[in-house]
Amino acid sequence: MTRIVYVNGRYVPYADAAVHVEDRGFQFADAIYEVCEVRDGSLIDEARHMARLERSLAELQIRRPMTAAALGHVMRQVIRRNRVRDGLVYLQVSRGAAPRDFSFPGPDVPPTVVCLAQSISAAHRDLKALSGIAVKSMPDIRWQRRDIKTVMLLPACLAKEAARKDGAREAWFVDAEGFVTEGASSNAWIIDQGGAVITRQLGLDILPGVTRATLLDVLAEEKMQLIERPFLLSEAYAAREAFITSATQTVMPVVRIDGRPVGDGRPGPVAAKLRQKFHHFAAISSA
Ligand code: PDD
Repeated sequence: MTRIVYVNGRYVPYADAAVHVEDRGFQFADAIYEVCEVRDGSLIDEARHMARLERSLAELQIRRPMTAAALGHVMRQVIRRNRVRDGLVYLQVSRGAAPRDFSFPGPDVPPTVVCLAQSISAAHRDLKALSGIAVKSMPDIRWQRRDIKTVMLLPACLAKEAARKDGAREAWFVDAEGFVTEGASSNAWIIDQGGAVITRQLGLDILPGVTRATLLDVLAEEKMQLIERPFLLSEAYAAREAFITSATQTVMPVVRIDGRPVGDGRPGPVAAKLRQKFHHFAAISSA
């Protein structure tokens, strides 16, 4: 349970944690965020998450609220004050609160910073990975700058809710040409019948996942064949294995797509191996 939340310089009880009704994150989704895994009391891949946060801020011309080191301090305080050993830490920066106006407010308006942490059982996550998850494909109706980690997540919420109603844990977005872009909150991967690991190349269509970046290091070290290109939904149906990556799920096998089994319908050996290797390659810093 979350007990203490950081809001604009103060650590406040969960029930009292609030931002202004005219916060631009609330009114315009004018905000960016990061989700970082906490594992065994450590932060996973903090530097990569901080680098992406800085890039998101720069792309949207939101002032950096504090240094990466200061943000790191806030994250650690929130993790400690909530006694999170395994789970996640969430950091959001909005353009701040100002009378509603589409144009940006002046330089006197400080960004809003919120940070909270949540415990998630590591055993529960590992158990889930043993059975794998189902995904449902959905048209990708998001905007054209999916490389920026904004809180504008309504299409992802709609897709995940539709997936849930179909008994699936994740939605895979598909572009107008039939190519999978990514998951609603994860990157999408397949392994073809020849054993090549395929994932869409970085660009404006997908989020540059931190887990994705670290997994590329694993693949290079293991000398596994990687192809960065868009793959069709039909290729995913015919794949030997499929999986998703995200900070909260690391490598999670996909065993069904739109109700069709992937391979033999059970988590594949490559996804299991990559999941097992992942934390040997991720950067681990004490929280
Ligand atoms: N989501 N693509 C999208 C659209 C995402 O929202 C995420 C992460 C990823 C994977 O990125 P990373 O490996 O850096 O977590 C890809 C987070 C976990 C969330 O919104 O909860």
